[in-house]
Amino acid sequence: MPKHHVTTTINGDPVEFLCASEQTLLDVLRDVLQLTGSKEGCASGDCGACSVTLDGRLVCACLVLGVEARGRSVETIEGMAKGDELHPLQRKFLEHAALQCGICTPGFLIAAKALLDRNPDPTETELRYWLAGNLCRCTGYDKIVRAVLDAATEMRRS
Ligand code: FES
Ligand code: FES
Repeated sequence: MPKHHVTTTINGDPVEFLCASEQTLLDVLRDVLQLTGSKEGCASGDCGACSVTLDGRLVCACLVLGVEARGRSVETIEGMAKGDELHPLQRKFLEHAALQCGICTPGFLIAAKALLDRNPDPTETELRYWLAGNLCRCTGYDKIVRAVLDAATEMRRS
């Protein structure tokens, strides 16, 4: 089966890849481009571990085909830190110990950033609803919520 040639933008950089029709964006990121920060928890859109943004919109990369990235802008967890400087959300996750195994963490960070990009001052309820599509089996969620709200406060001050 011939592969599709896709040109796209990932974390601000122009990227080209070949992929099969049925290959998901998550598989392309992880297996073709070696961007393994996005995780596969379920492959069915239920856990949010594969969260990325596509033209600024939060999506599950396991539910998007690689060819759908053509001409679009993809942001993954690899683009969140700027060199050695962690994003405030990443720092606050560390400070609040908001992770244990870490499988869910890239997805939570991408999802939280997508929220704060459009609503810099969410209520705790708004945040919990927004993150309802991201499952964590380790932390009990409270530390994650505290970390995001703390980061939001810091980001509003800066
Ligand atoms: S791996 Fe995509 S939602 Fe679970
Ligand atoms: S830290 Fe393990 S699933 Fe969230």
